[in-house]
Amino acid sequence: MTTLKISDGLVKDDLLVVGLVSTNTKGGIAIESGDLALDSKTLLASLLEMGATGKADEVTKMPGGPARLMVFTGLGPKSSSYSHEVLRRAAGSASRALAGNSGATFALPTRDLAGVSAVAEGASLGAYVFNDFRGSSKDSHKSALKSATIFSKLAGKSEAKEITKRASIIAKYTHLVRDLINTPPSHLTPDSFTKKLAASFKAAGGAKAGLKITIWDEKQLKSQGFGGIIGVGQGSANPPRLLHISYTPKAKNVKRFALVGKGITFDTGGLNLKPGFGMEAMKCDMSGAAAVCAATLAIAELALPVAIDCWAPLAENMPSDTATRPSDVITIFGGKTVEVLNPDAEGRLVLADAMVKAQSGKNKLDGMIDVATLTGAQVVALGTRTGAVMTNNQSFSDSFIAIAKETGEQFWPMPLPVELRASLDSPVADIANRGDANGGMMVAGLFLKEFVSDDLPWLHLDIAGPAFNEGKPHGYTPVGGTGVSMRSLVRLVEQA
Ligand code: BES
Ligand code: MN
Ligand code: ZN
Repeated sequence: MTTLKISDGLVKDDLLVVGLVSTNTKGGIAIESGDLALDSKTLLASLLEMGATGKADEVTKMPGGPARLMVFTGLGPKSSSYSHEVLRRAAGSASRALAGNSGATFALPTRDLAGVSAVAEGASLGAYVFNDFRGSSKDSHKSALKSATIFSKLAGKSEAKEITKRASIIAKYTHLVRDLINTPPSHLTPDSFTKKLAASFKAAGGAKAGLKITIWDEKQLKSQGFGGIIGVGQGSANPPRLLHISYTPKAKNVKRFALVGKGITFDTGGLNLKPGFGMEAMKCDMSGAAAVCAATLAIAELALPVAIDCWAPLAENMPSDTATRPSDVITIFGGKTVEVLNPDAEGRLVLADAMVKAQSGKNKLDGMIDVATLTGAQVVALGTRTGAVMTNNQSFSDSFIAIAKETGEQFWPMPLPVELRASLDSPVADIANRGDANGGMMVAGLFLKEFVSDDLPWLHLDIAGPAFNEGKPHGYTPVGGTGVSMRSLVRLVEQA
């Protein structure tokens, strides 16, 4: 983990990160080093020689100046106030480019503590590599930047400590989500997911921090009527699990949210086998479960005064002689029956079990959020960087969208048009798990809505696109698992 500091003293690191922007003046670029005074004349001349433009995601390294190595990170067009996300991404790009180094100071144009916080987040979120499965090539791969010092004249403020603590927690748990997603399914089964979480649960303070963990094995799931989780998991030699993490804060009379995450440790499509090309990306199908579990631990470490019920239904979707057949009927926890027309529409089945269970507790919920890499249709609709939000409660959705703007996670609202519901009618069971392919993301949302009480504010986040980056790294986002939704879930609880 990257160590974070805020300082307004002497720059001790031999790496200095500053901003570079494009301008409409002669030469077209300018340096933005925030609270750090910098003699920029010769530096600018060299930067121009090198063809630097100051556009986002452009990182230019240059020896000399007040440090051993100057690192210029693009902020885009010059402005009098850079958005937090611009600062977060620029810090992240620099931090990624500095893998293999021990420490860097970041002097970027922040105006207030929130700006400093964004730089701290970006620097630590960008300091991520995943080398756990390199063997003989391990030494030829760099490790992440070890420490980041944020240069700011606000370093002496009492809030500075809080900021580094919060950013470190956000980064630590984003990295946990990424690690879980990136871990290959050979090493991440439903059972080993629960064991890894049990270890993180301990590290987060366990019972002392107000946390409690409960795990259902396949026998308990079967005898207690979790037909969705069993139906999806029964084709695999790695049996399914249900993981529950609860967080109870010290404060009394607090709000309570249920977080439910899709935890398919690998999605082959089951008997509706997916094509081989690209199937490897389906190791990301537990991104929702990883995000809700990590968010819950982060909320506990931040000691936020909100109670959380986190549920992760975990299964591996495999084709075999014991797999669920198209036309099989299963019974979801609570009694609704589902005709499984397509075993590849498995996420909604495990989620339905967990969502009904989440609503069956004795404590009243103030809201429920499910997070899932649920549909290919989500990627078609919004691309690979924007997640979708569906809801039964407009103001809950509006507030989430506003929060996502703040955290820099891209989410967009999508409707749940009632007329699509009829396509899920089954000739034999209460509902089918496949409906109209057009608008498949919303059809999946409508399926889940059947398992949510009308008076419970509910959000469904489909993160099939942004959960896993199969393209190039950018900003603070690496290749592979991104950790998307974790930051917004924590922020939602902070603002509740
Ligand atoms: N895990 C997939 C969805 C997915 C696709 C996630 C691309 C990430 C990237 C999900 O289980 C699935 O297979 N959905 C089907 C549903 C359909 C059969 C109704 C789909 O989208 O094709
Ligand atoms: Mn599937
Ligand atoms: Zn899936």
